[in-house]
Amino acid sequence: MPGDSTKSVHEAEPFDEETGSLIAPIYETSTFGFARAADVPLAVAGSGEKGYTYSRWDNPTVVRLEKKLGAFEHAGAGAAFSSGMAAISTAVFAFLKGGSHVLAIRDLYGGTFGLLHDMLPGLGFSTDLVDTGDVSALESGLRENTSIVYIESPTNPTLKLVDIGKAAKLAHANGALLMVDNTFASPVNQNPLDLGADVVVHSATKYLNGHADLIAGAAMANRERIRKIKMMRRELGGTLDPLPAWLVLRGMKTMAIRVRQQNANAMALAEFLSSHKKVTAVHYPGLKTHPQHELARKQMRGFGGMLSFEIKGTSRNAMRFTENVKVATLAASLGGVETLVSQPYNMTHTQMSAEDRGKAGIPETLVRVSVGIEDVDDLIEDFRRGLSAA
Ligand SMILES: Cc1ncc(COP(=O)(O)O)c(C=O)c1O
Repeated sequence: MPGDSTKSVHEAEPFDEETGSLIAPIYETSTFGFARAADVPLAVAGSGEKGYTYSRWDNPTVVRLEKKLGAFEHAGAGAAFSSGMAAISTAVFAFLKGGSHVLAIRDLYGGTFGLLHDMLPGLGFSTDLVDTGDVSALESGLRENTSIVYIESPTNPTLKLVDIGKAAKLAHANGALLMVDNTFASPVNQNPLDLGADVVVHSATKYLNGHADLIAGAAMANRERIRKIKMMRRELGGTLDPLPAWLVLRGMKTMAIRVRQQNANAMALAEFLSSHKKVTAVHYPGLKTHPQHELARKQMRGFGGMLSFEIKGTSRNAMRFTENVKVATLAASLGGVETLVSQPYNMTHTQMSAEDRGKAGIPETLVRVSVGIEDVDDLIEDFRRGLSAA
């Protein structure tokens, strides 16, 4: 099997046979014409493989991206979406049955928390959230009607890990699917399907695209599960448009090289922060002091570009840090080439009550960092300046 850099550049990138164009075109069309009426049923039945009908169902540019997505997660297939939340909600709805129960970890991305914790119960489903990092909590939360066990690893923004292999075994013993949000790790650092998970979801807005210039999402699984997810996508309508699909394809060509640089920069920043007197805690799975460092070594190939740390003092100290860095920018989101800092308590995690934020370990003094690909010495100098002003 080719390595990640080779796959980044070449997977699903055939040159255009008609013109020889090295880069395949963007099929920016809503619908597809037929010369023969007899071909219509075939295209409808084998959408995306035996022909195209309508771009909310399938489109050649989007299908090309889906092949690349599937290859990166060692899955049989992929589906592209108009946002990470469209991927997550569509994949969840594809595997719910009347009255289903969803079991999830507490440390979820805010939008996913809102979907599972606040919205599903109003629609006749039930959700339980259990403590993250302790797989036995998942075991005791399983019920007879649990259809989906939903996890993230590493978690946002606390960088806790879930043992994906153990979570898969527990889910399967109960007849449930394990769904993993792999956004934080990226497929370069971790492949949950290889560890036993059934469906992987991503905010492709982040590492997959890598340039902070669009919103997109992805789901990867075996062909049968992706077929189900795509049927749900047809009706819910969150398909990705061909133009951003083409941009994600372009972004993915540098994914392996970007992510490896981000891994290295994050490790150096985590070490710098660990020795700074104004920092009371650093959360990064690559540090030997991380309580689940051994698990990180077992299930990840790289430790990722995300870290968070706690600043001595109050919320105002964290705010001053985020205002005084100059290379990094105070902004939500992550996974792009530029370093971003944020205070999850008042930015990305406001859907959670203060009590839930407390339970999830998100104090006001927590700063989340999405480490970019800048020169690491510039980043360390920038953080030193930010901390001295904090
Ligand atoms: C871990 C994680 N999952 C899912 C999402 C949602 O993705 P999107 O904003 O592309 O809908 C985000 C967004 O920040 C995220 O951080």
